[in-house]
Amino acid sequence: MENIQSYVQQHKERFIDELIELLKIPSISADSAYSQDVIDTAEAIKTSLEKAGCDHVEICETPGYPIVYGEKTIDPTLPTVLVYGHYDVQPPDPLDLWESGPFEPIIKKTEKHPEGAIFARGACDDKGQMYMHVKALEFMTSTGQLPCNVKFMIEGEEEVGSESLGWFVERNQEKLANDVILISDTGMIANDVPSITTGLRGLSYVEVEVTGPNRDLHSGLYGGAVANPINILAQMIASLHDENNHITIPGFYDKVEELSKEERAKMGEAPFSLDNYKRALDIKDVHGEAGYTTNERNSIRPTLDVNGIWGGYTGEGAKTVIASKAYAKISMRLVPNQDWEEITELFSKHFESIAPAGVTVKVDPHHGGQGYVTPIDSKGYQAASKAYETTFGKTPIPQRSGGSIPIVSLFEKELKSKTILMGFGLDSDAIHSPNEHFGVWNYLKGIETIPWFYKYFTELSK
Ligand code: BES
Ligand code: MN
Ligand code: MN
Repeated sequence: MENIQSYVQQHKERFIDELIELLKIPSISADSAYSQDVIDTAEAIKTSLEKAGCDHVEICETPGYPIVYGEKTIDPTLPTVLVYGHYDVQPPDPLDLWESGPFEPIIKKTEKHPEGAIFARGACDDKGQMYMHVKALEFMTSTGQLPCNVKFMIEGEEEVGSESLGWFVERNQEKLANDVILISDTGMIANDVPSITTGLRGLSYVEVEVTGPNRDLHSGLYGGAVANPINILAQMIASLHDENNHITIPGFYDKVEELSKEERAKMGEAPFSLDNYKRALDIKDVHGEAGYTTNERNSIRPTLDVNGIWGGYTGEGAKTVIASKAYAKISMRLVPNQDWEEITELFSKHFESIAPAGVTVKVDPHHGGQGYVTPIDSKGYQAASKAYETTFGKTPIPQRSGGSIPIVSLFEKELKSKTILMGFGLDSDAIHSPNEHFGVWNYLKGIETIPWFYKYFTELSK
């Protein structure tokens, strides 16, 4: 691996240009108007894997968007790394808050990225991070330094729940057999504080509908005499947290894993500035469950959040009306041991039970997934840790993330292997938000670090 650094230096312009081309395709999985773009992106990934040295690449059709599968086998007795990533992106809206087009990538300097960052939807989540693996493979194959076998599985439905991937994994256990799964779809603490993600939260996502009268009513003639579904929905949602910001759904916390004092103290050692955190978000104070720190609230504790709420008249001016219906989309982030289907059940029962007689309530489960924690004494974690030590000159800090990649727990169940989450993004990279970006330094550092993982993992597997 001696020359990975010089290889990256020599080819970095091309690495950036190739990523920029990929980012120009609006592969928005949530919006069917972009379905051809999603499919075109799969084709582009296929071509890039072929060029990077896979011996076999295919587009695997599914009931939804295709999965790009590629492999290079050098010796069946050596270990196999399975790389997972996603080529779909979140919708870019609200468009007017972007400083440049979400699919017109440009490089700009930022406070966190003095060497420049690529601004585009998907730059960090996950095209940029996924593409680091393609370029790392290119380096290893073109210099004869691939130390083990590799498989790639890149999907196009991660941002909408990975339904087809679950279908695909269940049907292709042998094809996907591996010794470790490697994913770059998370973040790290800071460029000078490398970290490895050791936990992901689970998710239960539901939509609720509250129905009152059978039609929209004059708010003067009927106001005060019938239940207003929007008022009721707001009250019901407000009641889901108590004064300590605990979630009030009976049984919600029953299976929540309580971390020991030692584990919490260890977590608390990770560098963190509450002042900087507040300043970055322009908030006067943080908010959350009593008894827990900010970093605990967003990683080891479950949450409930309204993601969207609508109903009634929202157009220009005023209309005096009591709407017939009100809606909300609600997500619950879950921690290990909480089962997402059980939590969805508990939510539905509770939500229906707190509805006053004047309305009816419907709860529609959307999707979900289990949380994940990975031990730090596995070969995979050790190999990743050594890889960061080699390229960052520092031992990475294990850190649990608040985000979710529901498919990771399914990988463990179906493929019986551990996932290593080597993310190179920063929380400030604005994933899912306007002006998403990915540091050029992070992109290149990722490409440089990944081959070391392969080397150390192969050595530790001997
Ligand atoms: N890459 C993210 C998840 C993530 C980001 C985990 C940063 C840890 C750190 C992924 O693409 C994502 O957005 N997941 C969704 C869940 C999915 C079911 C829509 C999420 O976390 O909201
Ligand atoms: Mn992602
Ligand atoms: Mn995402």
